[in-house]
Amino acid sequence: PNIAVITGGDSSEFVVSVKSGANIFAAIDKEKFTPWLVQMRGNDWDVIQDESKIAAIDKSDFSFSLNGEKIKFDFAYITIHGTPGEDGILQGYLELLAIPYSTCNVHSSSLTFNKWFCNNYLKTFGIKMARSLHLRKGQNIKSEDIVKELGLPIFVKPNAGGSSFGVTKVKNENELVPAIEKAWEESSDVLVEEFIDGSEFTCGLVKLQDEKIIFPVTEVIPKNEFFDFEAKYTPGATDEITPARLPEDLFGKCQQLSSRIYDLCQCSGIVRVDFILKEKEFYFLEVNTTPGMTATSFIPQQIKAMGHTLTGIISRVIEEGLQ
Ligand code: DAL
Ligand code: MG
Repeated sequence: PNIAVITGGDSSEFVVSVKSGANIFAAIDKEKFTPWLVQMRGNDWDVIQDESKIAAIDKSDFSFSLNGEKIKFDFAYITIHGTPGEDGILQGYLELLAIPYSTCNVHSSSLTFNKWFCNNYLKTFGIKMARSLHLRKGQNIKSEDIVKELGLPIFVKPNAGGSSFGVTKVKNENELVPAIEKAWEESSDVLVEEFIDGSEFTCGLVKLQDEKIIFPVTEVIPKNEFFDFEAKYTPGATDEITPARLPEDLFGKCQQLSSRIYDLCQCSGIVRVDFILKEKEFYFLEVNTTPGMTATSFIPQQIKAMGHTLTGIISRVIEEGLQ
Protein backbone atom coordinates (compact mmCIF):
# COMPACT_ATOMS: atom_id res chain seq x y z
CA PRO A 1 0.00 0.00 0.00
CA ASN A 2 1.07 3.58 -0.74
CA ILE A 3 1.23 5.75 2.35
CA ALA A 4 1.37 9.56 2.20
CA VAL A 5 3.33 10.95 5.13
CA ILE A 6 1.96 14.49 5.09
CA THR A 7 4.16 17.27 6.51
CA GLY A 8 4.46 21.04 6.36
CA GLY A 9 1.30 23.06 6.87
CA ASP A 10 0.51 26.72 7.11
CA SER A 11 1.39 27.67 10.67
CA SER A 12 4.67 28.55 12.37
CA GLU A 13 4.94 24.87 13.34
CA PHE A 14 5.97 24.03 9.75
CA VAL A 15 9.58 23.62 10.86
CA VAL A 16 8.61 21.11 13.55
CA SER A 17 6.31 19.23 11.22
CA VAL A 18 9.08 18.68 8.67
CA LYS A 19 11.09 16.92 11.39
CA SER A 20 8.11 14.89 12.62
CA GLY A 21 7.39 13.82 9.03
CA ALA A 22 10.98 12.76 8.41
CA ASN A 23 10.97 10.68 11.60
CA ILE A 24 7.67 8.95 10.80
CA PHE A 25 8.85 8.34 7.22
CA ALA A 26 12.00 6.69 8.58
CA ALA A 27 10.03 4.60 11.07
CA ILE A 28 7.48 3.19 8.61
CA ASP A 29 8.03 -0.50 7.90
CA LYS A 30 9.20 -0.51 4.26
CA GLU A 31 8.55 -4.23 3.91
CA LYS A 32 4.86 -3.70 4.55
CA PHE A 33 4.25 -0.24 3.12
CA THR A 34 5.52 2.18 0.49
CA PRO A 35 5.76 5.60 2.11
CA TRP A 36 5.90 8.88 0.18
CA LEU A 37 6.70 12.20 1.81
CA VAL A 38 4.12 14.81 0.85
CA GLN A 39 4.85 18.40 1.83
CA MET A 40 2.02 20.93 1.92
CA ARG A 41 2.54 24.68 2.12
CA GLY A 42 -0.37 26.83 0.99
CA ASN A 43 -1.26 25.80 -2.53
CA ASP A 44 1.98 23.89 -3.08
CA TRP A 45 1.56 20.20 -2.41
CA ASP A 46 4.55 18.18 -3.52
CA VAL A 47 6.03 14.73 -3.25
CA ILE A 48 9.53 15.07 -1.83
CA GLN A 49 12.41 12.65 -2.24
CA ASP A 50 15.88 13.34 -0.86
CA GLU A 51 14.80 16.91 -0.11
CA SER A 52 13.79 17.59 -3.75
CA LYS A 53 10.33 17.89 -5.24
CA ILE A 54 9.74 14.98 -7.59
CA ALA A 55 6.06 15.48 -8.41
CA ALA A 56 3.15 17.82 -7.74
CA ILE A 57 0.02 16.43 -6.09
CA ASP A 58 -3.18 16.40 -8.14
CA LYS A 59 -5.59 17.88 -5.60
CA SER A 60 -8.66 16.54 -7.40
CA ASP A 61 -7.95 13.03 -6.12
CA PHE A 62 -4.78 13.35 -4.00
CA SER A 63 -2.61 11.45 -6.44
CA PHE A 64 0.56 12.12 -8.41
CA SER A 65 2.23 10.88 -11.57
CA LEU A 66 5.70 9.47 -11.71
CA ASN A 67 7.33 8.14 -14.89
CA GLY A 68 3.95 8.03 -16.58
CA GLU A 69 2.37 6.05 -13.76
CA LYS A 70 -0.46 7.48 -11.65
CA ILE A 71 0.02 6.77 -7.95
CA LYS A 72 -2.89 6.96 -5.51
CA PHE A 73 -2.59 6.84 -1.75
CA ASP A 74 -4.20 4.12 0.33
CA PHE A 75 -3.61 5.87 3.65
CA ALA A 76 -2.50 9.30 4.91
CA TYR A 77 -0.22 9.58 7.94
CA ILE A 78 -0.65 13.21 9.03
CA THR A 79 2.33 14.87 10.73
CA ILE A 80 1.26 18.48 10.20
CA HIS A 81 1.06 20.39 13.48
CA GLY A 82 -1.45 23.23 13.41
CA THR A 83 -3.57 24.15 10.42
CA PRO A 84 -4.61 22.38 8.20
CA GLY A 85 -3.50 19.04 9.66
CA GLU A 86 -4.54 19.34 13.30
CA ASP A 87 -7.78 21.32 13.05
CA GLY A 88 -9.95 19.08 10.88
CA ILE A 89 -9.47 20.79 7.53
CA LEU A 90 -7.21 18.18 5.96
CA GLN A 91 -9.30 15.47 7.62
CA GLY A 92 -12.40 16.83 5.81
CA TYR A 93 -10.60 16.72 2.46
CA LEU A 94 -9.47 13.13 3.05
CA GLU A 95 -12.99 12.13 4.15
CA LEU A 96 -14.41 13.46 0.88
CA LEU A 97 -11.90 11.36 -1.05
CA ALA A 98 -12.49 8.33 1.21
CA ILE A 99 -8.78 8.07 2.04
CA PRO A 100 -8.24 6.72 5.58
CA TYR A 101 -5.92 8.76 7.82
CA SER A 102 -4.02 8.47 11.08
CA THR A 103 -5.61 11.16 13.26
CA CYS A 104 -8.83 12.13 15.02
CA ASN A 105 -11.78 12.84 12.73
CA VAL A 106 -12.94 16.28 11.56
CA HIS A 107 -15.12 17.01 14.57
CA SER A 108 -12.67 15.85 17.22
CA SER A 109 -9.72 17.63 15.56
CA SER A 110 -11.53 20.94 15.31
CA LEU A 111 -12.81 20.74 18.88
CA THR A 112 -9.42 19.95 20.40
CA PHE A 113 -7.49 22.46 18.29
CA ASN A 114 -9.64 25.29 19.62
CA LYS A 115 -8.46 25.60 23.23
CA TRP A 116 -11.43 27.77 24.25
CA PHE A 117 -14.03 25.38 22.85
CA CYS A 118 -12.22 22.34 24.22
CA ASN A 119 -11.78 23.87 27.68
CA ASN A 120 -15.44 24.78 27.95
CA TYR A 121 -16.48 21.35 26.78
CA LEU A 122 -14.19 19.49 29.20
CA LYS A 123 -15.15 21.77 32.10
CA THR A 124 -18.70 20.44 31.94
CA PHE A 125 -17.27 17.02 32.86
CA GLY A 126 -15.40 18.42 35.86
CA ILE A 127 -11.94 18.38 34.28
CA LYS A 128 -9.81 20.85 36.24
CA MET A 129 -7.94 23.62 34.45
CA ALA A 130 -6.67 27.17 34.84
CA ARG A 131 -9.23 29.96 34.77
CA SER A 132 -9.00 31.86 31.51
CA LEU A 133 -10.38 34.67 29.38
CA HIS A 134 -10.89 34.57 25.66
CA LEU A 135 -10.19 37.60 23.45
CA ARG A 136 -11.13 37.90 19.80
CA LYS A 137 -8.83 39.80 17.45
CA GLY A 138 -9.35 43.54 17.66
CA GLN A 139 -11.28 43.33 20.94
CA ASN A 140 -10.62 46.10 23.44
CA ILE A 141 -8.00 44.94 25.96
CA LYS A 142 -8.71 46.07 29.51
CA SER A 143 -5.40 45.11 31.14
CA GLU A 144 -6.39 46.25 34.59
CA ASP A 145 -9.58 44.15 34.58
CA ILE A 146 -7.74 41.09 33.27
CA VAL A 147 -5.09 41.33 35.97
CA LYS A 148 -7.75 41.89 38.61
CA GLU A 149 -9.53 38.75 37.43
CA LEU A 150 -6.56 36.40 36.88
CA GLY A 151 -3.71 37.90 38.93
CA LEU A 152 -0.06 37.86 37.84
CA PRO A 153 1.86 36.23 36.27
CA ILE A 154 -0.51 35.16 33.51
CA PHE A 155 -0.04 33.19 30.31
CA VAL A 156 -1.10 34.62 26.98
CA LYS A 157 -1.55 32.00 24.24
CA PRO A 158 -2.89 31.83 20.70
CA ASN A 159 -6.21 30.01 21.04
CA ALA A 160 -5.30 27.75 18.14
CA GLY A 161 -1.60 27.04 17.90
CA GLY A 162 1.25 24.92 19.12
CA SER A 163 4.94 24.59 20.01
CA SER A 164 4.53 27.76 22.15
CA PHE A 165 4.66 30.08 19.14
CA GLY A 166 3.17 33.40 20.28
CA VAL A 167 3.02 32.37 23.97
CA THR A 168 4.16 34.84 26.64
CA LYS A 169 4.36 34.60 30.41
CA VAL A 170 3.30 38.07 31.47
CA LYS A 171 4.63 39.33 34.79
CA ASN A 172 3.67 43.01 34.66
CA GLU A 173 0.41 44.56 33.62
CA ASN A 174 2.13 46.76 31.00
CA GLU A 175 3.40 43.66 29.15
CA LEU A 176 -0.12 42.38 28.61
CA VAL A 177 -1.16 44.36 25.52
CA PRO A 178 2.02 43.55 23.50
CA ALA A 179 1.71 39.89 24.53
CA ILE A 180 -1.89 39.67 23.35
CA GLU A 181 -1.01 41.40 20.09
CA LYS A 182 1.83 38.93 19.55
CA ALA A 183 -0.54 35.99 20.13
CA TRP A 184 -3.08 37.49 17.72
CA GLU A 185 -0.43 37.20 14.99
CA GLU A 186 -0.65 33.39 15.36
CA SER A 187 -4.39 33.02 15.85
CA SER A 188 -7.48 35.21 15.54
CA ASP A 189 -8.39 34.46 19.15
CA VAL A 190 -6.20 34.44 22.24
CA LEU A 191 -6.52 32.85 25.61
CA VAL A 192 -5.30 34.60 28.75
CA GLU A 193 -4.75 32.03 31.46
CA GLU A 194 -4.23 32.14 35.18
CA PHE A 195 -0.75 30.83 36.15
CA ILE A 196 -0.80 27.45 37.85
CA ASP A 197 2.40 27.18 39.84
CA GLY A 198 3.21 23.50 39.43
CA SER A 199 5.20 21.11 37.27
CA GLU A 200 4.42 19.86 33.79
CA PHE A 201 3.55 16.29 32.78
CA THR A 202 2.44 14.77 29.51
CA CYS A 203 0.93 11.43 28.55
CA GLY A 204 0.42 9.90 25.13
CA LEU A 205 -1.97 7.14 24.17
CA VAL A 206 -3.52 5.36 21.23
CA LYS A 207 -6.76 3.43 20.89
CA LEU A 208 -6.55 0.47 18.57
CA GLN A 209 -9.41 -1.84 17.71
CA ASP A 210 -8.83 -4.35 20.45
CA GLU A 211 -6.64 -2.41 22.84
CA LYS A 212 -6.01 1.05 24.26
CA ILE A 213 -2.32 1.59 24.89
CA ILE A 214 -1.61 4.31 27.44
CA PHE A 215 2.03 5.29 27.29
CA PRO A 216 4.09 6.13 30.38
CA VAL A 217 3.84 9.69 31.69
CA THR A 218 6.74 12.08 31.01
CA GLU A 219 7.93 14.70 33.47
CA VAL A 220 8.95 17.95 31.79
CA ILE A 221 11.47 20.20 33.54
CA PRO A 222 12.41 23.17 31.36
CA LYS A 223 15.49 25.17 32.30
CA ASN A 224 13.83 28.28 30.81
CA GLU A 225 11.14 30.27 32.57
CA PHE A 226 8.53 28.00 30.96
CA PHE A 227 8.33 25.26 28.30
CA ASP A 228 8.71 27.70 25.40
CA PHE A 229 9.82 26.99 21.82
CA GLU A 230 13.51 27.06 22.72
CA ALA A 231 12.98 24.76 25.71
CA LYS A 232 10.98 22.40 23.51
CA TYR A 233 13.42 22.03 20.65
CA THR A 234 16.94 22.82 21.88
CA PRO A 235 18.77 19.67 22.97
CA GLY A 236 19.53 19.84 26.69
CA ALA A 237 17.24 22.83 27.33
CA THR A 238 14.70 20.67 29.17
CA ASP A 239 14.99 17.59 31.31
CA GLU A 240 12.42 15.09 30.06
CA ILE A 241 12.03 12.10 32.32
CA THR A 242 10.12 9.03 31.12
CA PRO A 243 8.66 7.34 33.08
CA ALA A 244 7.97 10.33 35.30
CA ARG A 245 9.17 10.09 38.89
CA LEU A 246 5.70 10.19 40.39
CA PRO A 247 4.17 8.09 43.14
CA GLU A 248 2.24 5.19 41.61
CA ASP A 249 -1.18 6.65 42.39
CA LEU A 250 -0.42 10.00 40.72
CA PHE A 251 1.19 8.28 37.73
CA GLY A 252 -1.94 6.20 37.27
CA LYS A 253 -4.18 9.21 37.83
CA CYS A 254 -2.43 11.09 35.01
CA GLN A 255 -2.81 8.11 32.66
CA GLN A 256 -6.49 7.61 33.55
CA LEU A 257 -7.22 11.31 33.13
CA SER A 258 -5.53 11.31 29.72
CA SER A 259 -7.59 8.29 28.75
CA ARG A 260 -10.82 9.91 29.95
CA ILE A 261 -10.09 13.12 28.02
CA TYR A 262 -9.26 11.03 24.91
CA ASP A 263 -12.66 9.37 25.16
CA LEU A 264 -14.59 12.55 25.99
CA CYS A 265 -13.09 14.27 22.94
CA GLN A 266 -13.79 11.14 20.86
CA CYS A 267 -10.17 10.96 19.76
CA SER A 268 -8.53 8.39 17.56
CA GLY A 269 -4.95 7.69 16.58
CA ILE A 270 -1.93 8.68 18.65
CA VAL A 271 -2.74 11.64 20.89
CA ARG A 272 -0.90 13.38 23.73
CA VAL A 273 -2.47 15.22 26.66
CA ASP A 274 -0.54 17.86 28.65
CA PHE A 275 -1.06 18.83 32.29
CA ILE A 276 0.30 20.93 35.15
CA LEU A 277 0.47 19.11 38.48
CA LYS A 278 -0.09 21.24 41.56
CA GLU A 279 -0.75 19.84 45.02
CA LYS A 280 -1.63 16.35 43.71
CA GLU A 281 -4.15 17.78 41.25
CA PHE A 282 -3.64 17.61 37.47
CA TYR A 283 -4.74 20.75 35.62
CA PHE A 284 -5.52 20.13 31.96
CA LEU A 285 -3.48 22.17 29.47
CA GLU A 286 -4.36 20.78 26.04
CA VAL A 287 -4.90 17.82 23.76
CA ASN A 288 -2.42 17.39 20.88
CA THR A 289 -3.97 15.34 18.11
CA THR A 290 -0.88 15.43 15.87
CA PRO A 291 1.70 15.36 18.64
CA GLY A 292 5.37 16.02 17.93
CA MET A 293 7.01 12.99 16.35
CA THR A 294 10.58 14.27 15.95
CA ALA A 295 13.31 11.87 17.02
CA THR A 296 13.44 13.53 20.46
CA SER A 297 9.70 14.17 20.94
CA PHE A 298 7.71 12.80 23.87
CA ILE A 299 5.66 10.16 22.03
CA PRO A 300 8.68 8.35 20.55
CA GLN A 301 10.32 8.49 24.02
CA GLN A 302 7.23 7.12 25.73
CA ILE A 303 6.76 4.31 23.20
CA LYS A 304 10.40 3.30 23.65
CA ALA A 305 10.19 3.46 27.46
CA MET A 306 7.25 1.09 27.29
CA GLY A 307 9.24 -1.46 25.33
CA HIS A 308 7.31 -0.93 22.10
CA THR A 309 8.78 0.45 18.87
CA LEU A 310 7.52 3.44 16.91
CA THR A 311 7.59 1.22 13.81
CA GLY A 312 5.36 -1.35 15.50
CA ILE A 313 2.80 1.15 16.81
CA ILE A 314 2.46 3.11 13.56
CA SER A 315 2.18 -0.16 11.60
CA ARG A 316 -0.86 -1.02 13.71
CA VAL A 317 -2.39 2.44 13.19
CA ILE A 318 -1.91 2.14 9.43
CA GLU A 319 -3.09 -1.48 9.23
CA GLU A 320 -6.32 -0.64 11.05
CA GLY A 321 -6.92 2.31 8.73
CA LEU A 322 -6.45 0.10 5.69
CA GLN A 323 -9.03 -2.48 6.80
N1 DAL B 1 2.53 20.96 18.93
C1 DAL B 1 3.66 20.13 19.20
C2 DAL B 1 4.25 19.58 17.96
C3 DAL B 1 3.32 19.06 20.17
O1 DAL B 1 2.32 19.19 20.79
O2 DAL B 1 4.06 18.10 20.31
MG1 MG C 1 0.70 21.47 21.64
